[in-house]
Amino acid sequence: MKKIYFALPGNEDLTEILIQKEKAEKGIVEIRSFPDGETYVRIVSDVKDKKVFLVCTLHLPDSKLLPLYFLAKTAKEFGAKSICLIAPYLAYMRQDKAFNTGESVTSTYFANFISGFVDTLITIDPHLHRRSSLSEIYSIPTTVSHAASHISAWIKYTIEKPILIGPDGESEQWVAEVAKNANAPYIILNKIRHGDRDVEVSIPNVDEYKEHIPILVDDIISTGRTMIETIKHLKNAGMKPPICIGVHAVFAKNAYQEIKKSGAKEIITCNTIPHESNKIDISDLLIL
Ligand code: R5P
Repeated sequence: MKKIYFALPGNEDLTEILIQKEKAEKGIVEIRSFPDGETYVRIVSDVKDKKVFLVCTLHLPDSKLLPLYFLAKTAKEFGAKSICLIAPYLAYMRQDKAFNTGESVTSTYFANFISGFVDTLITIDPHLHRRSSLSEIYSIPTTVSHAASHISAWIKYTIEKPILIGPDGESEQWVAEVAKNANAPYIILNKIRHGDRDVEVSIPNVDEYKEHIPILVDDIISTGRTMIETIKHLKNAGMKPPICIGVHAVFAKNAYQEIKKSGAKEIITCNTIPHESNKIDISDLLIL
C-alpha cells in the first residue's frame, strides 16, 4: 500500500528525513489560521487508498490538537486507508493520577481523544510513570521505540570516561540500559518534587567518580529544575561540569538558558522535538 507523509507545522525537517528513508510520497497540505483564530485545513495531495502518516510531535500540545484532528478527519473523508500518527514526543503523560479531589486525569482523556481519530500511533519513550504500557489508556495499536541505544552510541563515541547519572528512581530503568550499552558506570539520585518548579535532589557519595565526566540523562527536560538541582549538587560534590542529555527537549520558557547558566558543560537532546540542542537523530526509530 502506498505511503504518504504529512508534516504538521514545525515537523517539516523530521518528515523530510522519514520521506527520504521510506522513499514515500510527500503530502501537500495547507494549514493556516483564519483572522478570527479558527483553523483552515486543505489536503492538496490525493490520499485515496493510501496509508497516511501524520508527523506531529506534541510538545505545547493544546494548539496542535485541532489542526491534527481536522487533518486526520479530512484524510479519512477523502479515502485514506489508515491514519498513523507519528508523535515522537507524546504529551499529557504526566497527570496520570488525581492527587487532589476534583483533578482531571488528563492522560486518560487525552489518550481517548487521540484514539478516537487516528488508527495507530508511533512514539518514542513516552513518560510511563505509574502505567506499564500505553495500552492501559490508548485503545489503538501503539508502537513505542526507545532512544537508549542512540544515546549510548553518542556517549560511547563522544565522551571519554563518562559516569551516567539518573536524577531519580524512575530514570533507573533506562539510565541503566544506556550505561550498559555505553560501557559506563551509573548512579541514581533521589528526587522529591515539591511543586512544578520546586525540586529537591540528594546525591550519594561520588568520590570515586571525580575524574569522570558526569552525564545526566533524563527522558524529559521541561522546566529544567531537575537538571539544575542536580548540577548544583554535583558541583558541591567537586565533580566536573556535567553534560545534560534529554530525550525530549521540552524546555519550558527559558529552561535551556537557565540550565546552561547553572554550569552544564553541554546540553544534548534527541530530535523528537526540534531544538538547537538536537544532536542525536532518532528518525530511524519512527519507521516500522
Ligand atoms: C520526571 O518524572 C521526568 O522523568 C523528568 O525528570 C522531569 O519531567 C523533568 O522535569 P523538569 O525539567 O521540569 O524538572
